Amino acid sequence: MATTLVTGGSGTLGRHVVERLIDADEETRVLSRRSAPVWPNGAEWFTGDLTSGHRVRQAVQDCTTVIHCASDPWERTRDVTQAGNLLSEAGRAGVEHVIFVSIVGCDRIPSSYNQTKAAVEGLFEESGLGHTILRATQFHELLEWVLDAASRSPVVPVPAKTYLQPIAAADVAERLVEFVKGPPQGRVPDIGGPEVRTARDLANLYLAARHVRARATSIPLPGALGSALRSGMLLAPDHREGHQTWESYLRETTRERKAR
Ligand SMILES: NC(=O)c1ccc[n+]([C@@H]2O[C@H](COP(=O)([O-])OP(=O)(O)OC[C@H]3O[C@@H](n4cnc5c(N)ncnc54)[C@H](OP(=O)(O)O)[C@@H]3O)[C@@H](O)[C@H]2O)c1
Repeated sequence: MATTLVTGGSGTLGRHVVERLIDADEETRVLSRRSAPVWPNGAEWFTGDLTSGHRVRQAVQDCTTVIHCASDPWERTRDVTQAGNLLSEAGRAGVEHVIFVSIVGCDRIPSSYNQTKAAVEGLFEESGLGHTILRATQFHELLEWVLDAASRSPVVPVPAKTYLQPIAAADVAERLVEFVKGPPQGRVPDIGGPEVRTARDLANLYLAARHVRARATSIPLPGALGSALRSGMLLAPDHREGHQTWESYLRETTRERKAR
């Protein structure tokens, strides 16, 4: 029986991946540091830790595929350690296909998190394992989280002259699960959201949807990072493959919040 392990199956993206695998009747495992599932999902739960390597061997044992969604954005080198531990155990266990979700433009954007992503891509490419690497644009969920925090003050600063192409994590999950059925493909075309809009536009839509009285104000972002963002390195304009727009995501999540 083919079995897929989802690392980070408790996270924003990983939850959608797990849901889709279960819906497709795939034998599914989750690796998480948590002792038990935070929501009932029908997957086999492995409590472990990719940084220390604790129980990673047990989690990958007898798996055909691994979808690597775990990440620790707060500690820059940790993702590299985690991927290294995962790939060495996957190699030992004879996993046929390892799938990694990365970030559009990560090899060109001068930020440490993006550089870490590029380094992890390199580990997958050099692992000797059958691999597929998909780069995605920013998730709606990330944008929402940033704006939730920023809109607590009356002025919400947004990077000037910067375009974004946010995508629903659910749309990225759908693509990742398609790879499980096929052979390893190496680096595949990027995936982006259905619309390219200015950061300010996206912030204003958020403020209107949530009825927040704060004002979005464009601030020029200095340095190499600012110019990378203004030059469109975060975008995949030829791959507008996500289905859900930012506005539709806001409508849905605003409704859900009201219902709580
Ligand atoms: N967010 C975006 O806009 C975006 C865009 C493109 C690509 N990506 C990439 O997509 C991936 C998933 O992002 P996300 O937003 O879904 O992340 P997330 O919500 O922060 O989830 C991170 C997951 O990593 C797991 N994790 C962290 N450290 C771990 C450890 N030591 N051992 C085992 N599990 C560990 C966490 O599980 P527990 O806490 O349960 O242990 C959690 O499920 C990341 O690689 C990210 O870089 C994200």
